Amino acid sequence: MKRVVICFFAFLALAYGRHEKYEGHQLFQLSGPAREIGSLEGKLDILSAKPAARVESNQLQALVRLSPEVKQQWLRYFDERQITYKKVVDNLAEAFRDEDSQIEAARESAKRSGRNIGWDTYYRHQEINDHLDALAAQYPNLVTVINPALSYEGRQIKYVRISTTRFEDLRKPVIIIDAMVHAREWVTTPVALYIINQLVVDAVDSQLTQDIDWIIIPLANPDGYEYTHDEDRLWRKTRSKSHPGSDQCPGVDGNRNFDHYWGTSESSANPCSIIYEGPSAFSEPEIRVIRDVVNQHLERAAMYISLHSYGNMFLYAWGNNGTLPSNGLALHLAGVTMATAIDSLALDNAPRYVVGNAAQVLYFTSGTSRDWTRAVGIPLTYTLELPGYEYLFEVPAQYVEQIVKETWAGIAAGAHYVRSIFG
Ligand SMILES: *[C@@H]1O[C@H](CO)[C@@H](O)[C@H](O)[C@H]1NC(C)=O
Repeated sequence: MKRVVICFFAFLALAYGRHEKYEGHQLFQLSGPAREIGSLEGKLDILSAKPAARVESNQLQALVRLSPEVKQQWLRYFDERQITYKKVVDNLAEAFRDEDSQIEAARESAKRSGRNIGWDTYYRHQEINDHLDALAAQYPNLVTVINPALSYEGRQIKYVRISTTRFEDLRKPVIIIDAMVHAREWVTTPVALYIINQLVVDAVDSQLTQDIDWIIIPLANPDGYEYTHDEDRLWRKTRSKSHPGSDQCPGVDGNRNFDHYWGTSESSANPCSIIYEGPSAFSEPEIRVIRDVVNQHLERAAMYISLHSYGNMFLYAWGNNGTLPSNGLALHLAGVTMATAIDSLALDNAPRYVVGNAAQVLYFTSGTSRDWTRAVGIPLTYTLELPGYEYLFEVPAQYVEQIVKETWAGIAAGAHYVRSIFG
C-alpha cells in the first residue's frame, strides 16, 4: 500500500511538473479575415486553422494559445483588426492533466485485458515499434518492417511495406502514408496503425492489398513525439540542434522542410518560430526518410497522404501560391471521394470535411510534403487534417476509435479510386 501511495504521488509530481509551463495559458478561438489570420502564423502558436463554419468571404477560424503575459496585448491586437475571439480553454495545464489521467486509466484497463495495441489510448514510440515488428513476424508474407534511419536523437524510425507480391509486381500502384511529422498531433499515429490493422490483421478488403502496395510510416518524428510525452505536450517540431540558434530554439517544422519553394517564406526563417523551415531543405533525418521512400517508389506511387490534426480537411497543391496543378480536377475528385466516405460515418455533431487547395482554403505555405510529393510526380497528394471535435486540440482517448474507423473508410475509398485509375 505504501508503495502504491508513493508511486501515486510520484506520478502526480511528474504530471504537475510537466505541464507547469502551461499554467494559466488559455486557448482562444479566433474568427477573422483569412489574410489577418494567416499573418499570425509564425507569430502565435496556432493549434489549428480552418475555414469559418459559415462560408462568408474568406473568413478563417484559428485556435491559438495565449500565455498570461501576452494575452492582453494580443486581444487588443485582435480588436483592432476585426478578429473576433472566444475563450475555449481556461487553463491548458489543467486540460493536459485531465488528458494524462484519462490515458493512464485507459492504459491500465488495456493492460488488464492483456491486449497490446488498442484504439482507446495513446502509445509510446517503443511500444509502437514493437507492435510493428510483431506484425511483421506474424504476417511475413504481407508485412515487411524497414528500418531506414535513426532520428536526430538516435531513435529508430520504422515504416512498413504491405504487399501480397513482396513489392515485386511493378504494375501495382503504391500508396504512401505518413503520420506524426508534427509531434503534438497524437491522433495521427493511431490512424496509421489502424490502416495497417485493416489491411493486414482484419484484412477487410483483399482487393486493396491484391491490387495496391502500401508504405505506411506511423511515427515519422519519434524525438518530437517522446518529447510531447515527457516534457512539452505542445511540441510540434523535430528535436534537432544543427542550425544556428538551436541552443535556444531546437527543432525544425518537418512540414516546412521539403524542397519545394523552400526558403521563400519569411515567417518560416526564424528558428524560434513553430513553423521554422530548417537550415536547408531536407536538413532533418526524419524528413529524409520520407523523401527517400518517395523517391524509391516514384514510378509506381499513385497517392501520398500526410496525416495531421486537426480541422477536417483534405488539402492539395499548390500551397505556395494557390494555383492548381494540371490534375486539379482529379485531386479534387479523389479528395471529395475520401471526404464523403468519412462524412458518412461522422458523429452527428462533427463538422463535415472541406476539400480544396491548401492556400485557397487556408493560407500560403512553403516546403510542405504535399506540394513536394506532387511536384516530383505523385499524382494524388494530400495533407489530411483529422477531426478534433469540440475537444479541439487534444482529442480525448475515447474518441480515437471513432476517428480511426471513419478515417479508414476514407482511405479505403481513396484506395479504390486509385485502383480504378491506376490499377
Ligand atoms: C505556383 O507554384 C507552382 C509550384 O508549386 C508553379 O508550378 C506555378 O508555376 C506557380 N504559379 C504561379 C502563377 O506562380
